[in-house]
Amino acid sequence: MVSVAIVYHSGFGHTKAQAEAVARGAKSVPGIAVDVIPADRAEGRLSDLAASDAIIFGAPTYMGSASAAMKRFMEATSKLWATQAWKDKIAAGFTNSASQSGDKLNTLVELAVFAAQHGMVWVGLDLLPGNNSSTGSTADLNRLGSSLGAMAQSNADQGPEHGPTASDLKTAEHFGRRVALAAAAWRRGRQEIAAALADEATALAA
Ligand SMILES: Cc1cc2nc3c(=O)[nH]c(=O)nc-3n(C[C@H](O)[C@H](O)[C@H](O)COP(=O)(O)O)c2cc1C
Repeated sequence: MVSVAIVYHSGFGHTKAQAEAVARGAKSVPGIAVDVIPADRAEGRLSDLAASDAIIFGAPTYMGSASAAMKRFMEATSKLWATQAWKDKIAAGFTNSASQSGDKLNTLVELAVFAAQHGMVWVGLDLLPGNNSSTGSTADLNRLGSSLGAMAQSNADQGPEHGPTASDLKTAEHFGRRVALAAAAWRRGRQEIAAALADEATALAA
């Protein structure tokens, strides 16, 4: 079984809804086990994360960057960074905020740099931007035009039952499926390469 963990923080439930959509997408791939972990519990689940094939990080954008609770989790992984325990795992990220832009890109950059520090392999969003032409609409997938990861927008004065929008949740589902497929392909490819290198070493030794 290929395992995908989703570590997220959500202060008011909007990013949680996005995380659940990412999980639905990942689960749609046969042979994928998905573990959705709130950031405040993830510090106690580091051994499970070390065993996963992929980790998808999700945070609301607060004051132009990942929320403090997510950052706390990120800093709690510094001992793992020292041993590169997550090296070569697949990584990806998503964020949600109230404004259409809201400086969400900065949060995704932060998550991507974090993954790179851990030696992880980052997977972006493979959807062309939506809602950017005369025929586009807010119902388009990737209506916020992101490429580094999945973005969602939720109105500041409404609860998670009103947002993220259906299109943002569909985008999140698509993203979860993409990352799960990438994790499965990466694991199978690495196993094949390892076997080929072992055969080569055996042949050279003979
Ligand atoms: C402390 C704080 C800072 C925020 N900063 C931003 C921001 O920089 N950009 C933005 O678009 N929305 C910002 N918001 C709005 C949240 O991103 C938005 O309400 C989001 O849906 C909250 O997600 P959550 O329910 O998962 O916590 C901020 C909200 C809070 C509480």
